[in-house]
Amino acid sequence: MTAKLLDGKQIASEIRGELTRDVAAFVERCGIRPTLVAILVGDFAPSEVYVRNKERACQQVGIRSQVHRRGPETSEPDLLHLIEQLNQDRDVHGILVQLPLPRQIRESRVLDAIAPLKDVDAFHPENVGLIAQGRPRYLPCTPHGISQLLHRAGIKTRGKHAVIVGRSDIVGKPMSLMLMNRNSSVGPDGANATVTVCHTQTADLASVTRRADLLIAAIGRPKFITAEMVKPGAVVVDVGINRIASGLVGDVDFEAVKEVAGYLTPVPGGVGPLTVTMLLYNTLEAARRQIGDAADSAALRDAG
Ligand code: GUN
Repeated sequence: MTAKLLDGKQIASEIRGELTRDVAAFVERCGIRPTLVAILVGDFAPSEVYVRNKERACQQVGIRSQVHRRGPETSEPDLLHLIEQLNQDRDVHGILVQLPLPRQIRESRVLDAIAPLKDVDAFHPENVGLIAQGRPRYLPCTPHGISQLLHRAGIKTRGKHAVIVGRSDIVGKPMSLMLMNRNSSVGPDGANATVTVCHTQTADLASVTRRADLLIAAIGRPKFITAEMVKPGAVVVDVGINRIASGLVGDVDFEAVKEVAGYLTPVPGGVGPLTVTMLLYNTLEAARRQIGDAADSAALRDAG
């Protein structure tokens, strides 16, 4: 068998087209341009690349973006002060602090300080709690992108066994909640899975992953998921972006797994383009919520 590729680039471009129209309509109706501020602390090279991609993507759909750069020695109080200023600024709708942060800064203090309505990453405990209760305000960008990717490829999760490898706050945990919930941004067919979450302490990992109808790899280890770990015909979503000597690879051994899986996301060009796209979606949603725009959201909700 050779897996069908899930083309994240194509689907991201489709959603960005919809967002471009939605942003233009919002600006026309409300006279306000959605604005995202990214904060980049330190000199971690991959973060530079991510933030630049986010700026470019904002520009593409008509969202205003600003980047605040701070040096590697920045103190926690200084960063909290900047966030407080942005929280108070009515012209800023979304605030994103690029992770990781330098060691002297406690990530939880910083993420907790972002006003929940401006938290376009959906990392604030209030927003995480709302997801856990099945009434999300914002969805975190990577899991939301995966939901969109599956939905637009015609893949339903209802009644399926979803196995997530990795329990991070950014991907594994929220993805498990979203798949477990009764409903999703794309309707009940994109939720209602039976969910298993695996991690470093899971015994006999392969015996668990082999039972997955939907396998989501979010581990951060190159080519960790091998063909023997995949049930024939399974949908395999690779969230990893790992730089090795030969270039960028995912958490899935692509060449081997594509012979077993039914569907597979490539790296690059799979989940990555959707993550940035859903950040744009959240920024428009944040602007709507902050000005109390009645026109209830967007093309994506209707897609359900
Ligand atoms: N670093 C790696 N992924 C992310 C993300 O989704 N959001 C932020 N803010 N930082 C990250």
